[in-house]
Amino acid sequence: MSVVILGIESSCDDTSAAVISDGILLSNVIASQKVHEAYGGVVPELASRAHQQNIVPVVSEALRQAGVDKKDLSAIAFTRGPGLLGSLLVGTSFAKGMAIGLDIPLVDVNHLHAHVLSHFVQKTREDEVPEFPFMCLLISGGNSQIVVAKSPYEMEIVGKTIDDAAGEAFDKCAKVLGLPYPGGPHIDRLAAEGNPKAFRFSRPHIEGLDYSFSGLKTSFLYTVRDGLKAHPDFIEKNKADLAASLQYTIIKILLDKLGKALSQYPVSHVAIGGGVSANSGVREAVARFCKERGVKAWIPERAFTTDNAAMVAAAGYFKYLQKQFCDLSLPPYSRVTV
Ligand code: KG4
Repeated sequence: MSVVILGIESSCDDTSAAVISDGILLSNVIASQKVHEAYGGVVPELASRAHQQNIVPVVSEALRQAGVDKKDLSAIAFTRGPGLLGSLLVGTSFAKGMAIGLDIPLVDVNHLHAHVLSHFVQKTREDEVPEFPFMCLLISGGNSQIVVAKSPYEMEIVGKTIDDAAGEAFDKCAKVLGLPYPGGPHIDRLAAEGNPKAFRFSRPHIEGLDYSFSGLKTSFLYTVRDGLKAHPDFIEKNKADLAASLQYTIIKILLDKLGKALSQYPVSHVAIGGGVSANSGVREAVARFCKERGVKAWIPERAFTTDNAAMVAAAGYFKYLQKQFCDLSLPPYSRVTV
């Protein structure tokens, strides 16, 4: 009998449900919340309410698209954390209720592990997957980490941000330029038309493999402030160059530490994941970086970079195979310590 997993993701502002059967993706439905755009960032209470509205139709649609009846499900995998507590509560409570109703096991998934394992979402049996151990540069709106994945169950964070995440650096600097939230994709688009060497922003000098983006953010802010003092139309005239130089600096910071990590933890496969891995410049730079070092690069399909339930179902499938089920009493968690 096939193992059919329903994955549920509700950690931030995307409500998503996906179905995989014996590891093969059958559906992946995502409802993104537009309500936050007017506020320039995610408003947690509004996110929870939108999840409540979306979760039933999103799960029904994922089952419908997969051609699967809920009675055929083997287990339900859900994101238990880290993320916004109110948002996580909606997905967690829904998953628990459905698992009780269907009398099937529940599998809890760490959202960050799911991003790392997003490369195991297979659409066909022929789709290749990374070999363990591999390194993953996990870059999203809330996290910037270098993870060594020894197996689907064993991951070591060897570097992480000590302040802002890469996505935050994109979004906050984009805000300074007056771009809509989230600004990352807008910077990406503008950067394609600008000169990456037009402006120089500061880069961190931190020992080891940890990241920092707050200095870059401040230096970007000062450049724009001083520019505006000199010319009121400074932003309009230099938008593309500012975006290109910002993107260039973020990529330099990311790859500098990735290079150091690779010399400390020599692996032959390197992956990227998380929302910022949708960035064109990051994708190109990581592909080039891997080619130069003779390691295999894993660049995810854009649909699997931002929050999605396909990766949650894939991570849940691994745990299901090991019978790593979740007790119904376990609550969601907002932060991760490992
Ligand atoms: O993984 P994700 O969906 O969830 C959070 O951790 O919130 O990542 C969202 C982040 C945002 O900061 C967004 O600006 C960034 O990913 N992002 C991008 C691009 N697409 C999304 N940043 C740069 N370039 C992009 N094309």
